[in-house]
Amino acid sequence: MLDLTPAEVTGKRALVRVDFNVPLDGDRIADDTRIRAAVPTLQTLIKLGARIVILSHLGRPKAKPEPKYSLAPTAKRLGELLSRPVQFLGETDTDTAVAATKALQNGDVLVLENTRFLVGEEKNDAALSKAFARLGDLYVNDAFGTAHRAHSSTAGVAAFLRPAVAGLLMQRELEYLGDALEKPKRPFIAILGGSKISGKIDVIEALLPKVDGLLIGGAMACTFYKAMGFETGTSLVESERVEMAADLSERAGFRLTLPHDAMVAPSIAEASKAHAVKRDAIPPQEAMLDIGPDSAASFARAILSAKTIIWNGPMGVFETPPLDAGTLAVAQAMAQATAKGATTIVGGGDSAAAVEQAGLTKLMSHVSTGGGASLEFLEGKSLPGVDALDDKAGT
Ligand code: 3PG
Repeated sequence: MLDLTPAEVTGKRALVRVDFNVPLDGDRIADDTRIRAAVPTLQTLIKLGARIVILSHLGRPKAKPEPKYSLAPTAKRLGELLSRPVQFLGETDTDTAVAATKALQNGDVLVLENTRFLVGEEKNDAALSKAFARLGDLYVNDAFGTAHRAHSSTAGVAAFLRPAVAGLLMQRELEYLGDALEKPKRPFIAILGGSKISGKIDVIEALLPKVDGLLIGGAMACTFYKAMGFETGTSLVESERVEMAADLSERAGFRLTLPHDAMVAPSIAEASKAHAVKRDAIPPQEAMLDIGPDSAASFARAILSAKTIIWNGPMGVFETPPLDAGTLAVAQAMAQATAKGATTIVGGGDSAAAVEQAGLTKLMSHVSTGGGASLEFLEGKSLPGVDALDDKAGT
C-alpha cells in the first residue's frame, strides 16, 4: 500500500477488505483486537485523503442475511477507535451501495454489510467479484485472517480492480511469519500444541527441516505417548495417527521434545483434582489435560535460549485453571525472551487468546490475527488473498 503514489490514493475510493470476524456476545464485541489491528491502515488512508469503503465477513452465515452476523456493531466500534464518524450501510453489492461510495468525501469511512450474506462470496463468483469492484477505485487487502480463503471479496475482486495491494497489517503479518521461516535468527524453535495431531501434521512436516527444535504440548502429545507404548488413560488419542507420530519422532530425532510429565485429572469438570505424573505413569482412569510442571520449566528454558520462537496451540485446557499453568509458563517465557531480544511470534486463534488472557500480548514481537491463515502460511501453502495482489508484501 505504501508504494502507491498520493495521486493513486487521494480522492479515490479505497475498497479495503478487513477481517472484522470478531467474537460477539449478543451485539457486544467480546474482543476488538481485529478491529484495532486494521486501524493503522485505515488511518494512513484517511491521512492520504482516500474515501474508505470497508468489506468484511463475520461468522459463518449461510449465504443469506442473518441479523446476528450484521457488521453494524463493528462499524460503531471502529468509529470509536478512529474518533470519527463511520457510516454503516446494511447492503453490500447493490446500486445503493455503489451510490453511497460515490457520495463519500475525502477521509470518510463507510462499512458495508457482511460479504457472507451474499450467495457468490464463498464460491469466489466472478459476477460478485465484478460487483465488488464497482465499490472502489483501488483495492487494499488487510484481511490477513481470511487470506487463506479464495472468496470474492478476498481474492476474486482483485482481478477486476487495480491497483490491488496489501494493507499494513497484511504486510506486517507476512513479514514476521515470512522472515521467521526464511531467515530466522538461530536457535529457531517452534512450539506446537492443541488437541489434535491431525490438524498440525502439515505444519510439523513443514517446520521440521527449518527448526532447531520442535516442542510439542497439548493433548496432541498423547498420540506420541501412545506410539511410545505408554498408558494414555482417557486422554484424547488419535489412534489412526499413532503410526504417523512414531514415524515423525523417528525422523525428527533429538529435535523433537515431548513433555516428560503431565497434569492429569479424571475430567475437565474435575480440574481441581489435577495432579502431576511422569509421562509413563498416566493412570488408566485419568486424562492428560496440561503439560506437567517439569515440562513447563524445560519448555521455558528452551524458549529462553532461542532467538526465534513460533508458538501455535495451547499446552492444555487453558480456559480452566489450574490446567492453564503450562500455557501460561510458555507465554511468560516468550515474554521474557522478547525482552532479551528474541523474536517471538504467536500464531492466532487459541494461543493468541491465551496470551491476551494472560495480559502479555504487548510483550510479544508479533501476535498474529489469523489462526487458520497463519497455520497455512507456516505449512508453506500459498494464500489466495495474497496471491491475488499486485505486490506480494513480505515475499
Ligand atoms: C478466522 O477467524 O479464522 C477468519 O476470519 C476466517 O474465518 P472462517 O474460518 O469462517 O473462514
